[in-house]
Amino acid sequence: MTENYEIIDHVHDVIVVGAGGAGLRATLGMTAAGLDTACITKVFPTRSHTVAAQGGVGAALGNMQEDSWQWHMFDTVKGADWLGDQDAIEYMCREAVPAIYELEHFGVPFSRTEEGKIYQRPFGGHMSDFGEGAPVGRAAAAADRTGHAILHTLYQQCLKHNAEFYIEYFAIDLIMDDDGSCRGVMAWNLADGTIHRFLGHQTVMATGGYGRSYFSCTSAHTCTGDGNGMVLRAGLPMQDMEFVQFHPTGIYGSGCLITEGARGEGGYLTNSEGEAFMERYAPSAKDLASRDVVSRSMTVEIRENRGVGADNDHIYLHLEHLGAEVLHKQLPGITETAKIFSGVDATKEPIPVLPTVHYNMGGIPTNYHGEALRPTADDPEAICPGLMAIGEAACVSVHGANRLGTNSLLDIVVFGRAAAIRASETVDKNKTVKPADGNTGEAAIARLDKLRHAKGGQSTADVRLGMQRIMQNNAAVFRTSEVLKEGVSLIDDAAKNLSDLNVADQSLIWNSDLVETLELENLMACAKATMHGAEARHESRGAHAHEDYPDRDDENWMKHTLASVDDDWNVKLDYRPVHEYTLTDEVEYITPRARVY
Ligand code: FUM
Repeated sequence: MTENYEIIDHVHDVIVVGAGGAGLRATLGMTAAGLDTACITKVFPTRSHTVAAQGGVGAALGNMQEDSWQWHMFDTVKGADWLGDQDAIEYMCREAVPAIYELEHFGVPFSRTEEGKIYQRPFGGHMSDFGEGAPVGRAAAAADRTGHAILHTLYQQCLKHNAEFYIEYFAIDLIMDDDGSCRGVMAWNLADGTIHRFLGHQTVMATGGYGRSYFSCTSAHTCTGDGNGMVLRAGLPMQDMEFVQFHPTGIYGSGCLITEGARGEGGYLTNSEGEAFMERYAPSAKDLASRDVVSRSMTVEIRENRGVGADNDHIYLHLEHLGAEVLHKQLPGITETAKIFSGVDATKEPIPVLPTVHYNMGGIPTNYHGEALRPTADDPEAICPGLMAIGEAACVSVHGANRLGTNSLLDIVVFGRAAAIRASETVDKNKTVKPADGNTGEAAIARLDKLRHAKGGQSTADVRLGMQRIMQNNAAVFRTSEVLKEGVSLIDDAAKNLSDLNVADQSLIWNSDLVETLELENLMACAKATMHGAEARHESRGAHAHEDYPDRDDENWMKHTLASVDDDWNVKLDYRPVHEYTLTDEVEYITPRARVY
């Protein structure tokens, strides 16, 4: 029987879950618009994973070379391998320019050119002249600590507007109404053990990605797909989860990120023969081809025995020719990271690197206003009233099958702002929030209580490790039917272990065992959706490189995957159309074509 938990009630106009860049930008916009907004976060806001973003935020400011938001849009559509929704991509690339100036005015300490303009560096897949010209400097950067600079500035702006934060509260589950709308969220205060019920007109999932479902990733330990897990348990699907981005340059061993900005500044990759091999794979863009292309090329080099090191199992990234002065000015963070995590002095020797899981293109389907979708056969654009999603937790879809570097920081500021605009249009402050009745949020408490008292035979850490190894081995850079089929069977078995967990600590105060168990359930739901979606997609597109189906198949697979996971961990797949139209007449739909760099 569920223990009796005392519930502390809160009512706000809007509840934002997550205080990374997306959550903070939404909180700021909503608060500034006069909405009573609560931001709930499991870590202190400035510890959110946005802090780790390095190389820059994409916008066609044209500070270094000529640029245009239409070129940015073309590159994003091409990078996404035509799975992105072009109305949303148009919105993001157009809004990028004012969004970056807005950040500048908020106080983000961008690096500067000699003339005092925002410094911009080239990044993979960002080209001039609709992909025909040279790489263009489009990544607006604060050295190689751009996410850090943006996150701190947004938090300061939120404080200036007196936004209300609930810090170190773990969101357990959404509160859904009988009519399918979302009413709020249940949360656990990790510091004092109290249980909280947050009710509002809108609940915004800004909970980040689920990189930690893999063994090696650049994501923080907190990136556990909590929002995705909550939304799946609420009966809504995830979209395009099979598209998992590997960043070409995670440090060999630790997986720590070495920014693509390093190659933007002139860095290059070599194999065991000392060959700068990207020239063979991407003759035009070379080391600045998009990430999926570079990660696959590195993997082929290693597979064909041209990897470096004692086991020929990684690749070298050279920066030493750039000189200590450039490294210390433009890339100080990764120079230090290379020293700490690989013992290498990047001013003198190459850094050992390996493609490492970095970003989830898939997530909660939304429209470009940030409204979460509950698609039906009759209406693939149907929204779920009361629920929004932004940032890596969401799938707008602007990244399609492969995200371009710098478009993640852009996504969080543009769609965090869009969600605030939408909420200020749709939320009626004068309308009373539907009050709680006796059992509102009961299901969330029952789940918490069950896990808290779980007395099975396996530790959360062991089950998590098993899941991470399956994802690493069976949903990797290259995939085959055989490996994916095996992956489905293995991950289905791994999920069964969740009913045999043992939680050693029953307290409610700083109980990391229970936190990690709740996180594991969220990760597992994401992992299952990823593996099943990947197994079903019989084509190669963007980050989904299927060796038995090596070509993109627009006739059969130009569609978004929808994956639902039921209470018994069964996965059901469905599909919805890609938006093959733009938002305005200012740009034409970019027709699919071969993707060469
Ligand atoms: O390489 C990087 O600095 C990462 C940027 C991104 O993922 O957008």
